[in-house]
Amino acid sequence: MQKKIFSAMQPTGIIHLGNYFGAMNNWLSLQKEYAGIFSIVDLHALTIPQKPEELRTNIRNLAKLYLAAGLDPQKNIIFRQSQVHEHAELAWILTCITPISELERMTQYKDKAKQHKENINAGLFTYPCLMAADILLYDTNIVPVGEDQKQHVELARTIANKFNNLYGETFVVPEAMINKETARLRGLDNPEKKMSKSAPSEYNFISLMNKPDLIRKKIQKAVTDSGTEIKFSPERPAISNLLMIYHLVSGNSIKEIEGEFENKGYGDFKKELAERIIEFLTPLQERFEAIDDNELDQVLENGKQRAETLAKKKLKEVKDKIGL
Ligand code: AMP
Ligand code: TRP
Repeated sequence: MQKKIFSAMQPTGIIHLGNYFGAMNNWLSLQKEYAGIFSIVDLHALTIPQKPEELRTNIRNLAKLYLAAGLDPQKNIIFRQSQVHEHAELAWILTCITPISELERMTQYKDKAKQHKENINAGLFTYPCLMAADILLYDTNIVPVGEDQKQHVELARTIANKFNNLYGETFVVPEAMINKETARLRGLDNPEKKMSKSAPSEYNFISLMNKPDLIRKKIQKAVTDSGTEIKFSPERPAISNLLMIYHLVSGNSIKEIEGEFENKGYGDFKKELAERIIEFLTPLQERFEAIDDNELDQVLENGKQRAETLAKKKLKEVKDKIGL
């Protein structure tokens, strides 16, 4: 049997180059080798306040983006988390065997609680239990994610082991897969931090949907380090991040790019970088626009049915084991 991968993103509006290269791009290469299950985790999105109309649009747009990026809906299961009730149900069961102390250690929780002091809801805290349910329902072997999600996948492993010890072999213990090179693109306005959709300024990131003029403006404004050389170096996080983006969107090696800009300055480099990003994103944006609503509905309905079949079977096994 083909090994299974499961991954997901939240429909929170913006998907940026960090998300794309940290996660989605790996999904595309892995779909050839593995049976893929890719979810739009709309229940996770509720941990921050959502406007219903916006949420509806964001869910559909994220599904469209999965298709535009090149996930094959025949081969993979593409579905919305909220349409398969088993996720919420298993999440509750797992919540009841997850120690609070484990949840308190989660860096994402600590960061978000600091960021949203006015809305530290219980969902933000138990979020990793729902994520564990997502993964464990499908006998997932591998979870391709960015570096920041590694701790959550590790908690899913802990929970799976705990359940297996309590009730007998039930869950496959999943493994995180992280692409070291692209695991953490940095903010354009602050290379000390990761590129993030919740950054205070939109000059932090390039959204996959940004249009050419805005991309040119954002790259022009991107902060740079002291010195003038276009060279990759750990001591110069800003130019190294821009070089990495150049490499990812163009396919040229860092060495080649350094060579090309050996006697040139930041101005020339940034101009070219913006054009390479535009060339990379334009075809994806065109595919996105071309997906029609009926086609999308069909993909999501088909994905729901296929996911539901697997999830129902697993949840039944779990309920039997615990005496429900
Ligand atoms: P999120 O933005 O939290 O919905 O993340 C969606 C996916 O993108 C997750 O797998 C993250 O690990 C990944 N990701 C988010 N930000 C970055 C970043 N700056 N660099 C690389 N991967 C990222
Ligand atoms: N927590 C992930 C993020 O913010 C999204 C997610 C939810 C996920 N469930 C998952 C990722 C299961 C991988 C597997 O990016």
